[in-house]
Amino acid sequence: MGGTDQARGTRRSPATPNDTDTKENGGGVTRILPSDSVINLDHGDPTMYEAFWRKMGDRCTVVIKGYEHLSYFSTNKNPCWFLEPKLEESIRSLHGAVGNAETDGYTIVVGTGSSQLLQAVLYAVSPQDQPNPISVVSAAPYYSSYPETTDIVKSGLYKWAGDAHGFDKDEPYIEFVTSPNNPNGVIRGPVVNRAGGIVVHDLAYYWPQYTPITSSIDFDIMLFTASKCTGHAGSRIGWALVKDKEVAKRMISFMVVNSIGVSKESQLRVAKILQVVADGCKRFGSPDGDNFFEFGRNAMAKRWEILREIVKKTQMFTLPKYPLQHCNYTGELTQAHPAFAWIKCKDEMEDCEELFKGHKVLVRSGRRFGSDPGYARVSMMGKDDEFNQFIERLTSVIQMCSGDHHGIN
Ligand SMILES: Cc1ncc(COP(=O)(O)O)c(C=O)c1O
Repeated sequence: MGGTDQARGTRRSPATPNDTDTKENGGGVTRILPSDSVINLDHGDPTMYEAFWRKMGDRCTVVIKGYEHLSYFSTNKNPCWFLEPKLEESIRSLHGAVGNAETDGYTIVVGTGSSQLLQAVLYAVSPQDQPNPISVVSAAPYYSSYPETTDIVKSGLYKWAGDAHGFDKDEPYIEFVTSPNNPNGVIRGPVVNRAGGIVVHDLAYYWPQYTPITSSIDFDIMLFTASKCTGHAGSRIGWALVKDKEVAKRMISFMVVNSIGVSKESQLRVAKILQVVADGCKRFGSPDGDNFFEFGRNAMAKRWEILREIVKKTQMFTLPKYPLQHCNYTGELTQAHPAFAWIKCKDEMEDCEELFKGHKVLVRSGRRFGSDPGYARVSMMGKDDEFNQFIERLTSVIQMCSGDHHGIN
């Protein structure tokens, strides 16, 4: 979700469980949204996985007694002394099972979401002895929280410098590389590629439900989050895999000053969940139905198929195309099914966010990502009823405009 990224500038949808009908449907609860409710797909709230977790029943239940886990400290065997050993174990085990990132030789730093780790990393890699703050860049369209995460405290160490494509200063810089990218799902590498650059790889979405896993990545600084991996955004657990021990130590110092560690309750809950995912995900296509990534990938693929089918029939909107790639995890040739749809209104005049707002669908304007308002980001990770309502509204947007020159083909 990303703190301000999710909360700022969005109205709460009135479609809370209090004002909707619900009915049990075996795997989960289906809400029936009033047809005039506001659908909030502005934020990336990963609630679509609820049905899977309901099916898991008590397998992820963690009981913590009143006398347990009182201490600030979790371990004396790790420079990150507030990292629960069980969480470290399950993080390593999950990356090993999926094959998306190397963990041998890396220090793991846990954070309250990867949002807190973004701040820790900025502090850790910025030069401490320079008269001017180091520039922080990311290629547009970039994750809309980067500018505000960088500038919120008006640090003297680092400063947001915008789109990496336009960065032409001959001086050190920090580049955030998000891959697959939020908002457009594209696999990315650094764009500045100059001496003195520090690259931070934000791999929040490098999981099999969103994209083919083409290699086990071993960059110097990699950020992950339970929010997008398993959908447990409310637990607020992120982790950084850091090669350089000095950088890891500085991140840990930031965390100590900022929050003296990370909630043990959250860490233990996520440790359990990641271990359940790791144990269940070793065989893709297992008949037990306990492979989280298989559930997630099938659900995302179905949503993308529905969305593409509708968009194909009109000249009004376009969606990015993704190449077919071999996924080392599933063993299949597959396309990406990103967490967000990066929709472009064909008519250059359109303000895509406003267009959807007129149909009570909240989406995020391309402007917020350093792009133009002809684009909008739509979350594909909401609940089934929200997605279904979105599809209905999109169909009516297209029908309403079909009298225009846009038309449905
Ligand atoms: C690319 C990216 N990085 C980081 C985050 C932060 O996630 P969290 O703080 O929930 O771990 C998000 C959330 O939307 C994201 O999209």
